[in-house]
Amino acid sequence: MDLVVQDTPEAVAECAAQHVASRVLALPSAHLGLATGATPRGVYQRLTNAHQRGMLPLSEVRYFMLDEYVGIDTKEPTSFQNVLRRELLSPVGAEPHSLEILDGNAADLSAEADRFEEALRSSGGIDLQILGIGTNGHIGFNEPGSSFTSRTRMVELHEETVQSNSRYFDSPEVVPRKALSQGLATIFEARSILLLATGDSKARAISSMVEGPTSPSNPASILQRHPDVTVIMDAAAASRLRSAQSAISKVSA
Ligand code: F6R
Repeated sequence: MDLVVQDTPEAVAECAAQHVASRVLALPSAHLGLATGATPRGVYQRLTNAHQRGMLPLSEVRYFMLDEYVGIDTKEPTSFQNVLRRELLSPVGAEPHSLEILDGNAADLSAEADRFEEALRSSGGIDLQILGIGTNGHIGFNEPGSSFTSRTRMVELHEETVQSNSRYFDSPEVVPRKALSQGLATIFEARSILLLATGDSKARAISSMVEGPTSPSNPASILQRHPDVTVIMDAAAASRLRSAQSAISKVSA
């Protein structure tokens, strides 16, 4: 795992945008897996800006959703599909079909999960998966207890996740309790992974992911086994890492 510690969330976004842009410039037809939530927002803004300044061609890029709430209208601003189209795909003029969606309104959610897996497989897979991390260590919506062999499927959100995500909704009561999520094994198949974390609320999850035991009770710890993972975090998110000091020296070296 390559650990990069930056001073501020803005510096995390800048560093992560450069990381993504360099991959896309090296492989213009890259397949990008996209997380939603607050953490990657600054990255998507910077990618949009670079594209609009003519410095980042994105016309050949194909995008894949990481997760989506079940039963949410895609016109709702909190629908992950809506967020991704609003924050990245529309501003860069991406074709609507360049996003492989997870349809949380499908009549048969299990068939929808299988369809997504097949679309992923037949596309050749994800080159770079962008991830955030939950305060409880989830990646995607793979909550603690998720199997390391899990594939895309319908999942129940833990109470901690519902409470945490209530900041995006009018009240905790209206936060969806179910989601479709790529599984841990699905995420693990991405050729390269970029995980972002900011703020001290993520410090415990980051130290467990990097230095804790690899166990389904700590879902993000599966990434310890992946050959190409970069974690870009701010100092607050890195504050519980025993290895934080060496990570910081690595950045400033
Ligand atoms: C979102 C996702 C989640 C979030 C995580 C952190 O697509 O898969 O795992 O990345 O809950 O969310 P934020 O960034 O809002 O703190």
